[in-house]
Amino acid sequence: MSNLKTNYLGIELKNPIIVGACGLTSDVQHLKKMEEAGAAAIVYKSLFEEQIQLENLELEQSLNAYDERHAEMLRLFPGLDHAGPEEFLHDLSKAVKSVSIPVFASLNAVYDETWPEWAARLEKTGVAGLELNFYQAVTSFEDTAKEIVDKRVEIISEVKKHLKIPVVAKLSPYYTNPLHVVKKMDSANADGFVLFNRLFQPDIDIEKVAHVYPYNFSNPDDHRLSLRYIGLLHGNIKGDLCAANGISDYADVIRMILAGANTTQIVSTLYKNGISYISDILTGIEDWMVRHNYKSIDEFRGKLSHKMLKDPFAYKRAQYVDILMKSDKILKDFPVL
Ligand SMILES: Cc1cc2nc3c(=O)[nH]c(=O)nc-3n(C[C@H](O)[C@H](O)[C@H](O)COP(=O)(O)O)c2cc1C
Repeated sequence: MSNLKTNYLGIELKNPIIVGACGLTSDVQHLKKMEEAGAAAIVYKSLFEEQIQLENLELEQSLNAYDERHAEMLRLFPGLDHAGPEEFLHDLSKAVKSVSIPVFASLNAVYDETWPEWAARLEKTGVAGLELNFYQAVTSFEDTAKEIVDKRVEIISEVKKHLKIPVVAKLSPYYTNPLHVVKKMDSANADGFVLFNRLFQPDIDIEKVAHVYPYNFSNPDDHRLSLRYIGLLHGNIKGDLCAANGISDYADVIRMILAGANTTQIVSTLYKNGISYISDILTGIEDWMVRHNYKSIDEFRGKLSHKMLKDPFAYKRAQYVDILMKSDKILKDFPVL
């Protein structure tokens, strides 16, 4: 039988499949199904700054007169009325106890003081680790790339001072140089990196001439961006690598491990195929390992990372060479006339 065990953040996981943070992971029934289907770990949905602030505002409101800021918050986050942070901590502790696999927490804060304070409160729920979900679409014309990155590195250092459990940075790909960003965060002792998060993008319905908010699921080919950076980072940083975004089946999981990932996170594929699909992914990995004569995940991790390859162009300009220099090949596959 194949050994699917993998080490992530100093924790031995039974296989490389982690269910990423999403609405599904905050429901105990769903968590139990994920464990049954074979998930190795789970990231509970993020605690957001708005939840924390909304409760502060409600407190403020009971002390002060009703104000416009509160009205605006309730308008923007109508569903958050009953999702206060204390209730969140309580539900998370219950979730941790409901399964025997590791449960990670996730925090998406805005204010400097919220990060370490709430990281410490999340740790007390018994979670195995914490993801810092640096999800923030830039809207300011003033903030420079350096300021944004320095602030996030500072947050990691600050949180690390307060926590004993491992701390992971979940990043979007929208940095000028993601390699440099990861390297700086690695030097600030982040224990691992989830590459990449998926920023929520609004859309416009042209018939209604109004904004719409689609579910934001990934598409199968989206995994390639993560694959490139995992492949470039493997063997060059201390922290562990968790691949995410567009991992839709067992083949994508294998691709990511070949590139150098310790683990993978899946979300969209579970919404599309159901929670039980986790067991299909695991069967697919095992079958592939048998076909390729691998006894353990460690035997092939990073085999196709940049560091392990003789060809220095594989992660750099190879695609351009292939696509641009051999333009007649593409026309054979896609005869446009
Ligand atoms: C419905 C939904 C809810 C999500 N909620 C969170 C969240 O609370 N925190 C977080 O860090 N990521 C959240 N994500 C992002 C996922 O964890 C994941 O990073 C992203 O969907 C890419 O992975 P995928 O291609 O497997 O879906 C959410 C995604 C979806 C689709």
